[in-house]
Amino acid sequence: MKSPEMYLECVSCGKTYDPWDLRYKCDCGGILDVKRDLSKIDGEELRKLWDSRWGLKRGVESSGVWRYRELILSVPDEMIVTRQEGNTRLYPAGSAGKWAGLSDLWFKHEGENPTGSFKDRGMTCGASAARRLGAKSVACASTGNTSASMASYAAVAGMRAVIFIPEGKIAYGKLAQALAYNGRTLQIQGNFDDAMALVQDVCRELNIYLLNSINPYRIEGQKAICIETLQQLDWQVPDWFVIPGGNLGNNSALGKALMELHELGIITKIPRIAVIQAEGANPLYTMWKNHTEFKPVRNPETIATAIKIGNPVSWPKSMRAVTWSNGVVEQVTEQEIMDAKAKLDAAGIGAEPASCCSLAGAKKLRDSGVIGPDEKVVGILTGNILKDPDAVVGYHQDTLMDHYGIRGTFANKPVVIPATLDAVRKALGD
Ligand code: F0G
Repeated sequence: MKSPEMYLECVSCGKTYDPWDLRYKCDCGGILDVKRDLSKIDGEELRKLWDSRWGLKRGVESSGVWRYRELILSVPDEMIVTRQEGNTRLYPAGSAGKWAGLSDLWFKHEGENPTGSFKDRGMTCGASAARRLGAKSVACASTGNTSASMASYAAVAGMRAVIFIPEGKIAYGKLAQALAYNGRTLQIQGNFDDAMALVQDVCRELNIYLLNSINPYRIEGQKAICIETLQQLDWQVPDWFVIPGGNLGNNSALGKALMELHELGIITKIPRIAVIQAEGANPLYTMWKNHTEFKPVRNPETIATAIKIGNPVSWPKSMRAVTWSNGVVEQVTEQEIMDAKAKLDAAGIGAEPASCCSLAGAKKLRDSGVIGPDEKVVGILTGNILKDPDAVVGYHQDTLMDHYGIRGTFANKPVVIPATLDAVRKALGD
């Protein structure tokens, strides 16, 4: 099947551009979408083609992103920078579902990607676009996962990775990855929003290719989370997708994938999207709840450092996805995030704090009656449990109160005992 031609279109004014114009924004300042004429594609044929690629062992299409290449990015195979990303599991929620009061809750675990987060799906696409454009250097601002992913893909592609992270504010596992994958790591004295503003200037002035999710090709890759989930469900559409929101690229991608699958007739039902933000970094929630203009949060704060973002670039695309799907935006407290994390971890699944907004939000929406007890819900887990060991150990040792005001409600405290059988018996209560 021939892939339809791509072009770029401004989300605000509709102006179109050549797909390989090196730009991230429209002349009017609006952000850009990758578009295709889907009217010439037979949705049924496309679905069959994707199903025929399921389980491929080798080659570009064994990737859980490039399996869907017709809707991802049109580039020749030799330009593709891939680590066979995607192909992540879809788990029944087990005891975490019971805790949330949901009988049909599932988790798509994007922490099982090569660098431990969903970012690899967008990054394979962004890095391939960089190669197609002949870029030698790529850059991003990051709360940690984008930088880990970009450093890895740049290393695979033989490009230089320039990373801007807020000093002292990213999880240790993520900083370790950026250094290990040989990214040039610049710790900015400021927060993520400051780093994001700076990196846009740097890329323009120093001719470096920008790989934040303002880059529309990143969003195209991230659509594969949704497509792969539906394929795992034999194309049966759940009632809800629940997803954390930070810079708001991922839920924008989810919405865009659903819109395109719907236009192609591959799905006929539209699931509702619930975007979950941390209470201390909640500009989308405030806008949606109060029907007001978008207003950035000046000093975002949350233990879920991945989503500690006050001025998300992709909010117009995100709002479009929520509105189109008759979705909702919810916020969760620090305590709710970490209690949900304890339950998700203890169910044997596990994820980093920001991911656990999916469970915390699903429970909150169940408790308030927005989600019914037997509705089918898919939560997206965005990052691996090992990304942020400090948050885990702090919760279980109950030391998060002073800094974050979080109690170790479900703490599983480690105990120190003498090395004797008796002491073990006592510790186990036998
Ligand atoms: N969960 C995790 C683990 C993340 O790393 C991020 C974003 C999100 C959720 C939110 O996704 O930004 O698309 O709304 N992390 C970015 C980064 C900002 O730099 O790694 P979003």
